[in-house]
Amino acid sequence: MTDTTQTFQAPRVLVFDSGVGGLSVAQEIQQRLPQVSLVYASDNAFFPYGTKGEAELIARVDQVITALLARYPADILVIACNTASTLTLPHLRSKLNLPIVGVVPAIKPAALMSKSGVIGLLATPATVARPYTHELIREYATNCQVISLGSSALVHIAEQKLRGEAIDSAAIEAITQELMNTKNAEKMDVLVLACTHFPLLKEELAQQLPARINLIDSGAAIARRVEFLLADSEDAPAGYISEHIAVFTKETAEATQLAPALARFNIDQQTYLNI
Ligand code: DGL
Repeated sequence: MTDTTQTFQAPRVLVFDSGVGGLSVAQEIQQRLPQVSLVYASDNAFFPYGTKGEAELIARVDQVITALLARYPADILVIACNTASTLTLPHLRSKLNLPIVGVVPAIKPAALMSKSGVIGLLATPATVARPYTHELIREYATNCQVISLGSSALVHIAEQKLRGEAIDSAAIEAITQELMNTKNAEKMDVLVLACTHFPLLKEELAQQLPARINLIDSGAAIARRVEFLLADSEDAPAGYISEHIAVFTKETAEATQLAPALARFNIDQQTYLNI
């Protein structure tokens, strides 16, 4: 009998973010598609993206994705970062020859889910300001009031959490209070977590927010899209265990500290590009 585990080529999905946020998306992909092999890439050398200018971010994402694909040819690229997707997708799609899935704010499902017509949008300051985001609101949430708040602090808190450091609950409370102090916030019943770092703090955010508010993100929809794009790929043989790796753009003590968290996402290998 031939051992099919020897010949099976797992589809490779490159999941890219500025930091650990894309792990919230990687997790959804792993749950839906256990046979895929993930290359999880973090541009920690240029983190955070949410405070960067548009031209420098487009150039940087281009540079890192080009280097990553040269080293890790992939079947699908997932830009698991709202800040990068809402800016760089047209550029990446014009130059790369593979399917690219972008993560963008879940405005449409939020507007469909809301009964009160008041939805929240929590993202990086850059995503909140993007024309792409305003277009999504115009197209899918015309009948809703959208309360937007940009926060870079939450991005840093999510990174700290995954490094195993203490969580600054007071800082999270300050952000949720700012959101809830906005006009009509007492009617808000859906909050879009439009930064991939934020689902990593879902429990902490939920603790500080009224129970009626549903926290939603794009992770599960991205996993479904990846599944659709891989529909023709070969099934994994019984007993096959996929391997995942994490690639950082810079070797730092903080990146090394992430090893236990990465292991919880089934990623046991860490490597560095140094770009
Ligand atoms: N995780 C990213 C996002 O979805 C951005 C975090 C950052 O500012 O680097 O927007």
